Amino acid sequence: MKKIQDRYKVVGVNKVNDVYFRLVLDAPALAREVKPGQFIHIKVSDGLEPLFRRPFSVFRAKAGKVEVFFEPVGKGSKLLAAKEKGDILDVLGPLGRPFTLPSKSVKQVVFIGGGIGVAPFLLFSDILLKHKAEKVLLYGGRSRAHTFSMAGFKANGVKTFVATDDGSVGVKGRVSELFDKIDIAPTTFIYACGPRPMMATVAAFAREKNLSGEASMEEVMACGLGACLGCSISTTKGYQTVCHDGPVFGLEALVF
Ligand SMILES: Cc1cc2nc3c(=O)[nH]c(=O)nc-3n(C[C@H](O)[C@H](O)[C@H](O)COP(=O)(O)OP(=O)(O)OC[C@H]3O[C@@H](n4cnc5c(N)ncnc54)[C@H](O)[C@@H]3O)c2cc1C
Ligand code: FES
Repeated sequence: MKKIQDRYKVVGVNKVNDVYFRLVLDAPALAREVKPGQFIHIKVSDGLEPLFRRPFSVFRAKAGKVEVFFEPVGKGSKLLAAKEKGDILDVLGPLGRPFTLPSKSVKQVVFIGGGIGVAPFLLFSDILLKHKAEKVLLYGGRSRAHTFSMAGFKANGVKTFVATDDGSVGVKGRVSELFDKIDIAPTTFIYACGPRPMMATVAAFAREKNLSGEASMEEVMACGLGACLGCSISTTKGYQTVCHDGPVFGLEALVF
């Protein structure tokens, strides 16, 4: 897998709603290489503050452009939100282990996304356009403001179900309230990305129903290359790094 470090021009950064921003980079080589579930490590300032890059999933990679959806939560992501058209960003990537493509025997793909964790699944649904499996997205957000537009997923033939904590969109409650919306079978395969408690619930659900699946995990990162071990998590194989061994792990390998 090729890793590229390069400087890319910002095509635009726009506020999508009260919570999320969308960054578009003119990055043809990156757009060609990146696979669903991989992330890019962005140097958000030219100075020493913040020192470390910030990791973001690729939301879409089309026509030479790479898109990232993000929520400004701290120093790095707020600096990113303030970038303007024409600015140049130093980007390392694509990094990490991507989601495994479903085998031909998989008849139903279930994406489960919590909050910004839905980010890798639009690119994944683009890649799976020709895969014959039924595609379903179960999406959970805190409120209407935290809810992504489902239009891109629907255009890709994905059946979508939404839950919000306050019930302002879709079903009231956590994304697990949506589990009974799907007719699961042994040929169902789960792909999950979201906050850690959600991942624990998804892993327990998969175990109970005897389903296979993968999850993309998040950890605060420094090097992003497997060198500093700062992003290690506990797995059935011992400690593994989210940046290099992951971010995608088999659901059965995760220890909560
Ligand atoms: C593989 C991967 C993919 C990601 N994809 C996306 C994405 O597509 N969109 C997006 O908005 N965010 C994504 N993130 C999270 C994003 O990297 C963090 O929000 C960002 O690094 C925060 O940097 P900051 O300087 O703004 O915040 P900081 O000032 O570093 O931290 C602000 C607060 O956020 C917490 N925090 C920081 N990083 C993380 C993290 N990785 N997980 C949980 N809490 C964190 C800190 O503990 C602190 O409370 C991803 C993270 C990983 C590891
Ligand atoms: S961030 Fe250094 S090993 Fe993952």
